[in-house]
Amino acid sequence: MKPLVKRILIGVGAVVGTIVVGGGAFVAYQAHAFGSSMDTVYDVPVPNITVSNDPAVLERGKHLSEAVGGCLNSDCHGGDLSGGKTMEFGPLGRITGPNISKAGIGAAYSPGEMFRVIRHGIKKDGRSVRFMPSHEIGWLPDSDITAIVSYLATLPPANKPNGPIELGLMAKVLDRMDAIHIDVARRIDHKSPIVGPAPTPTAEYGKYLAKLCTGCHGNTLSGGPIPGAPPDLPIPTNLTPDETGLKGWTYEDFDRLLTQGIKKNGQKLNPFMPISSFGKMDETEKKALWAHLTQLPAKPFGGR
Ligand code: HEC
Repeated sequence: MKPLVKRILIGVGAVVGTIVVGGGAFVAYQAHAFGSSMDTVYDVPVPNITVSNDPAVLERGKHLSEAVGGCLNSDCHGGDLSGGKTMEFGPLGRITGPNISKAGIGAAYSPGEMFRVIRHGIKKDGRSVRFMPSHEIGWLPDSDITAIVSYLATLPPANKPNGPIELGLMAKVLDRMDAIHIDVARRIDHKSPIVGPAPTPTAEYGKYLAKLCTGCHGNTLSGGPIPGAPPDLPIPTNLTPDETGLKGWTYEDFDRLLTQGIKKNGQKLNPFMPISSFGKMDETEKKALWAHLTQLPAKPFGGR
């Protein structure tokens, strides 16, 4: 081998070596930070909650559990709370919503602890939940969270063992880089948690509901592939009023998408987008979301 080529190769090797060793250290550091954050025991008192059996409260709780909280979604805790189906995210890992019925975790949680896990993302043992989107639904006003807790308490025990939750190294690193949200409690201000207003069909309320869309469509709702997700996962679209997004859509188009899963171009929506829940939103909620989405600044696709 000619000395120059050899020297170049050694140089390249050194650079690659530095990246590998440096990258390895970065990954190890992030994985460690993830682990110690998940080990944090949060000092947030359990609120004093009494479940209600007022039919109007239970009706509100049912609606929110189905349409907004998504608790009863088959991807989350299942229609009978016995646990969701295992969602496979390739190298990121696998996640299964646990059995939270009275035959599962639900038996161990007091109403106050159930309220705290929804508002703060904190489990009975004081540590953060994984992946459960409390940072997207915890803004619900106290009366609404109490309604959910009251309704869930009326559901019968459902026997089913819990499925796996396994997190790949990449999932931990991406969580630390804020590209995906697994460690939920660290993203919530426990001293003064965000509490939303009472429901009205306005952008002001829609802003809160739209938090439910950010996990997939991105913090700015401009869409793009979910970081680290396997290629067979469908790509969340742009929800801002850009050419590549919802420009030209009417409320009727939006409503048809949520309730029937049919896109503006007539195509069928991929079922990864959870319209089995969102399709049950009431007029106030759908109108509020639409009012919020249409007043967003237009952003090109993919900014997430
Ligand atoms: C679990 C992930 C996920 C969540 C949560 C989610 N979406 Fe989606 N959404 C998707 C995916 C993926 C697509 C594209 C599906 C396809 O191409 O068939 C999509 C498509 C859409 C479309 C169709 C856009 C088009 O151009 O046809 C709209 C509108 C939409 N979502 C609105 C929402 C709203 C509003 C919310 C929150 C209330 C939301 N989504 C929450 C994953 C999600």
